[in-house]
Amino acid sequence: MQLNIIPKPNKAEFFGGEVWIKDLPVRYETNDLHPEEFYCLEIKKDEIVITAKGEKGKYYAHLSLSQLEEAGKAPLMKITDMPAFPYRGFMIDSARHMQTVDEIKRYIEAAARYKMNIFHWHLCDDQGWRIESERHPLLNQKGSWRDCHGFGSKNMQRYGGYYTKDEIRDIVAFCKERFIEVIPEFDLPGHTTAIISTYPELSCRGAQVPVETVGGIFKNILCAGNDEVLKFCYDIIDELCELFPYPFMHIGGDEAPKARWCNCEKCQQRIKDEGLENEEQLQGWFANKIIAYLKEKGYTALAWNESLNSGIIDGDTVICDWMDRGNKCVPYANGGGKIIIEDFYHYYLDYVYGMTPLKKTYSYNPYLDGLTEQGKKNVLGVETPIWTEYIEDFDRMSYMCFPRLIAVAERGWTEPDKADYNSFKVRVKNQKDFLASLGITLCHESEWDPNALIRVKESVGRLIKSITPASIMATVFPNVDEK
Ligand code: ACM
Ligand code: ZN
Repeated sequence: MQLNIIPKPNKAEFFGGEVWIKDLPVRYETNDLHPEEFYCLEIKKDEIVITAKGEKGKYYAHLSLSQLEEAGKAPLMKITDMPAFPYRGFMIDSARHMQTVDEIKRYIEAAARYKMNIFHWHLCDDQGWRIESERHPLLNQKGSWRDCHGFGSKNMQRYGGYYTKDEIRDIVAFCKERFIEVIPEFDLPGHTTAIISTYPELSCRGAQVPVETVGGIFKNILCAGNDEVLKFCYDIIDELCELFPYPFMHIGGDEAPKARWCNCEKCQQRIKDEGLENEEQLQGWFANKIIAYLKEKGYTALAWNESLNSGIIDGDTVICDWMDRGNKCVPYANGGGKIIIEDFYHYYLDYVYGMTPLKKTYSYNPYLDGLTEQGKKNVLGVETPIWTEYIEDFDRMSYMCFPRLIAVAERGWTEPDKADYNSFKVRVKNQKDFLASLGITLCHESEWDPNALIRVKESVGRLIKSITPASIMATVFPNVDEK
């Protein structure tokens, strides 16, 4: 029998017959033996019984119950359910384009309904610094602003802003009520033009650069040979720790071209002093300094998969596989390291449906090929990012993310062998009214899985949009340091 619940519960037993559930009394039972996220939901003729260890399990039971209530009647049954993965994340890029606090809350509200439990907040990048800093207020005066609104668009309005500490605390509290932990990302050492535009002395060349106004990969990165850079990073981390009470912090590590480091006396001196083999290891060394600082404060670092390139990254780091396709991440997990799956080709929601159809997203199995039984246990879960270079407003963001975010949520909760795309498609259509109540437009069914012609057209269009001279140079010649 098909239940109108997303994510699909892992076990449901039916006893025949139906009941109107709206006015049935709910009784709670506590069972300490179950994991925190486990719940049992029994629909009986005269009552509903929810069994859980504590508040989290109860919350998930009510999320399932509220979806059943929308249909009015429910079968007499017993749902016994807990997630396949402990980490079920969504990422919002608020650096390239910001969302209002209200929009972020509406997005969170939707993700919460599908039992997602991690909000990874990408708060700083080449195109803007979005965190209020009391220790470095200049970041907000300079690094939070750029000279153009849209990337490559004709809107040349100055664009920017940042979230105040009170706004950040408000969002963290909103998440807490929904059992969602918030992980901030402080992307290092690349994607740091907003910092360097404010403090040029933290880059290798010390040259003044503007906050970027186009997307891409940029060669001006933080100087890893300068102790002042580490001091600056520790300062920011101190401020982040005050705002984000959960034990994880994302330290980026993606797309850091080494051109500047190759030609920087300080970076080269650091390589010598620390007995490192090359610039890749310098990135590993730099990351490990940050990771050690976080550890002192009780935090575990998350980092993008490029962080494995050095071969020396601290093995407690949780690696987010976005572009590795399991190459280094699978051996890392098999060897005991924790990983999160957020594959570019399946889970990146800023790419059009023509490139990433709903079925492709839904069908991706987070248990990558090559994982041993032990390795599978080290897959903490899944995450789906929305990068916002080309997502300028909440309507576009909603259309791109829904229903694909819901597909990732289901794959994070429902055991792989119970995933069922056809059933998912039926259930997801029923989400339209709920999402509309949050001002979220569900992408129309006719666009979920486009035909081959549309796929080619949309894919080419999207790729052309994101190719810039800077990204070509940085991608094709990452180590060429043009004068
Ligand atoms: C990434 O998309 N650069 C992590
Ligand atoms: Zn340097």
